[in-house]
Amino acid sequence: MHKLIIANWKMHYGPVKAGAWIRAFRRERLPKELEIAVAVPHVSLPAARASLGRAGVPLLAAQDVFWADEGAFTGEVSPAMLKEFGTSFCLVGHSERRAHLGETDEMVAKKAVALQKTGIRPVICIGETEAQRKKGEHLKVVRAELTAAIAGLKGDGQAPMVVAYEPVWAIGTGKSCSTEDAKQMHEAIRAVLVKKFGKLGEEIPVLYGGSVDTRNVADYLSTTNIDGVLVGGASLDPRQFGLLCRTAMPN
Ligand code: 13P
Repeated sequence: MHKLIIANWKMHYGPVKAGAWIRAFRRERLPKELEIAVAVPHVSLPAARASLGRAGVPLLAAQDVFWADEGAFTGEVSPAMLKEFGTSFCLVGHSERRAHLGETDEMVAKKAVALQKTGIRPVICIGETEAQRKKGEHLKVVRAELTAAIAGLKGDGQAPMVVAYEPVWAIGTGKSCSTEDAKQMHEAIRAVLVKKFGKLGEEIPVLYGGSVDTRNVADYLSTTNIDGVLVGGASLDPRQFGLLCRTAMPN
């Protein structure tokens, strides 16, 4: 299985800067055994798409979506609208949305189903807070979040899902999760996926996210059950992100 690296710009880069980032990144030498995507703000999807060129690298991702096809949902964007720009992936349930916008497990589940139906791969983000880990509840919390998020999904849907484990305390803090702790969590996640989807559950990519950078990316990617990474801060500079991709897969 190819390793998957997804950049998450979060609320950075409108259309002008997004286009410049993509054009700069296209000059980077990239390992062939990596699948690379970049999650851009909705308003920057057209510019990002236009700057991609024929190679289509990186793939495009969105950072959020609404679950209905169309209708009276002011301010929202449907999966079909994302599809018009050739969006391959869409993040759902990022902890920043759960914390600042009240996104619930139920909403995450509906978004994931709508994406899968449209042929966009949902990237389901889950992770415990620092307090939950301190209390020893992290495995229970993450299993429950994942179980709720995948309730309506099909293992063999037309757009295979992706899971991203992002411990909230590791996001943007420089305090990355140890590979031992990440390994334990990824094993627990894999077990939930296999229980629900059988053999197909073994093939669902499970990414790690939270303070990933050029120093730790290779360690994560060589850890059992870590199939890729979701990168925030270290993806904002296209050259640094190119270096991160090369470091992830030496030679
Ligand atoms: P950082 O890489 O900045 O810690 O962000 C991780 C993240 O939230 C990616 O979705």
